[in-house]
Amino acid sequence: MGRVAVLHFLLGILALSSIFEVLHAESPYRYYDWEVTYGTISPLGVPQRGILINGQFPGPAVECDTNDNVIITIKNSLDEPFLMTWNGIWQRKMSWQDGVLGTNCPIPPHSNWTFKMQAKDQIGTYMYFPSTSLHRLAGGFGAFNIHKRSVIALPYFEPAGEFTLLVGDWHNTDHKELQQMLDSGSDMPMPDGLLINGDPSNSVFTGEAEKTYLFRVANVGTMTTINIRIQGHMMKLVEVEGSHVLQEIYESLDVHPGQSLAFLVTLHGSAKDYYIVASTRFARTAIEATAILRYNGSNVDASHPLPVGPTYQVHWSMKQARTFRWNLTANAARPNPQGSYRYGGIQITRTLVLENTVGEVDGKLRYGVNNVSYNNPDTPIKLADYYNIPGVYNLNTSRDKPTPGPMVSGTAVYDIALHDFAEIIFQNNETTTQSWHLDGHNFFVVAFGANQWSPEMRIKYNMVDAVWRNTVQVYRNSWTAILVSLDNKGMWNLRSAIWHRQYLGQQVYLRVWNDETSLFTESEIPPNALKCGKAAKF
Ligand SMILES: *[C@@H]1O[C@H](CO)[C@@H](O)[C@H](O)[C@H]1NC(C)=O
Ligand SMILES: *[C@@H]1O[C@H](CO)[C@@H](O)[C@H](O)[C@H]1NC(C)=O
Ligand SMILES: *[C@@H]1O[C@H](CO)[C@@H](O)[C@H](O)[C@H]1NC(C)=O
Ligand SMILES: *[C@@H]1O[C@H](CO)[C@@H](O)[C@H](O)[C@H]1NC(C)=O
Ligand SMILES: *[C@@H]1O[C@H](CO)[C@@H](O)[C@H](O)[C@H]1NC(C)=O
Ligand SMILES: *[C@@H]1O[C@H](CO)[C@@H](O)[C@H](O)[C@H]1NC(C)=O
Repeated sequence: MGRVAVLHFLLGILALSSIFEVLHAESPYRYYDWEVTYGTISPLGVPQRGILINGQFPGPAVECDTNDNVIITIKNSLDEPFLMTWNGIWQRKMSWQDGVLGTNCPIPPHSNWTFKMQAKDQIGTYMYFPSTSLHRLAGGFGAFNIHKRSVIALPYFEPAGEFTLLVGDWHNTDHKELQQMLDSGSDMPMPDGLLINGDPSNSVFTGEAEKTYLFRVANVGTMTTINIRIQGHMMKLVEVEGSHVLQEIYESLDVHPGQSLAFLVTLHGSAKDYYIVASTRFARTAIEATAILRYNGSNVDASHPLPVGPTYQVHWSMKQARTFRWNLTANAARPNPQGSYRYGGIQITRTLVLENTVGEVDGKLRYGVNNVSYNNPDTPIKLADYYNIPGVYNLNTSRDKPTPGPMVSGTAVYDIALHDFAEIIFQNNETTTQSWHLDGHNFFVVAFGANQWSPEMRIKYNMVDAVWRNTVQVYRNSWTAILVSLDNKGMWNLRSAIWHRQYLGQQVYLRVWNDETSLFTESEIPPNALKCGKAAKF
């Protein structure tokens, strides 16, 4: 071995040992064994085929601490290939665990696969759900809550307890029937109702008078923004997708599809039951679901009227969104203040303007990004990269800005240099609210604006304390700007959180890359990786 080779060899060993230390030595392991099955559920009173995890709908909550290793074996007992994705869990250096079709082969029916994740440097309120077909419209979703390590101080007093509310719209129609509708060129029908933890009106959360509780809320729905509020109680927002925010008081909060947040509520009222209301936004007539906040020992039922919330108002929502700000002096998962990372001074090295577009391909409805409608190849693009398999995707397909022309179908992958600091503008020329999610990273939401974005809008960006999250809304005929440090090597899905749009092509991948192979930047392909498509022979 030459000197350089020896050095590389030693560095390799160093890298290996330090990775093992990070992944395996210090932090506890949590093991979950989940069987995914069909079962009959009737959340809105209509029996239908649901997707259960260990017999449960919604699925069991993952509760872990920062840096814990979370090992989840999923046994697929459905009749179709299946994958689960972990919305907001970064999978730092572990793009192989992301559970989307661009990174993983789906788990074939009647077999199992083990996800090996680490909640590295994360804290906060997240969710998981199936990423394949329209499975999540039948269930299979649940909460993924990451708690602080004992050595970390939170920017608020330890609450007396926690409640998790998975809120989302719901369709009574079977997921395969909905999928057939989309496959044949029809659009998604409107939802039939809203659910809180799988039920439109019967969930009860019990607490003690005068105590303060943390409410974790995730919008697990597939198309509708919800507003949440509690009769007779104010909500103090403390966390948004892992960011500790300035603790403002709200009467009600908007939560868009794929988003999550946490707020504190103090039970200072008289001892009785109170309504918790979730309602749909941006239509004149809202669909509602209710739950009960019960003061322990109360035998007085909650009474009408229900607290009213906003309905069609967009301006109200945009105004509220601008009040979500990073608390610069608060800890995150680590004891250093969030504001010690000064994103405002970092040079932007890449700008993407991504417009959500609608069109037709072969006479059928498709959604796209700059009129490229994403097609999932049979071979996950991550595996195509790893094995140098040509013909799976082409970096030419993606478009950095809106381009006039018909909708085309393609496998849009953006070539990003590891550590690029990117500005992404989501331009929405449609009359509906959009929601965008990025895997593998949080981003700074620096501005919301009306009509058309242009470079002059940059002076309006919040370069100091913008909230740092993973899913952001884009209002109708408006734009949203985000800044993101793309420092997690891998293949990362950027997708519409409005699920039928994602299914019909409104998604892309960011290939965050450098040509060095190093365990410092990315872990090896897992030994249990499934192989399919053109990678089946490897
Ligand atoms: C997972 O599949 C393997 C075979 O690939 C089998 O040995 C194992 O028992 C299965 N585990 C579960 C939990 O079903
Ligand atoms: C910000 O965090 C600090 C430090 O934990 C905390 O003391 C303060 O109350 C927070 N400020 C607001 C406005 O939430
Ligand atoms: C409600 O009160 C009873 C009796 O004091 C107590 O045992 C129980 O733990 C309380 N439940 C909650 C959720 O605080
Ligand atoms: C990308 O597009 C250009 C021009 O359309 C073409 O010449 C080139 O071969 C394409 N690259 C690949 C890798 O297909
Ligand atoms: C996208 O394609 C559709 C046709 O499929 C077309 O109507 C629309 O104008 C195109 N959008 C742009 C920005 O060119
Ligand atoms: C989006 O709409 C604006 C008007 O609000 C228009 O100026 C612009 O050209 C549209 N962009 C595209 C790509 O269609």
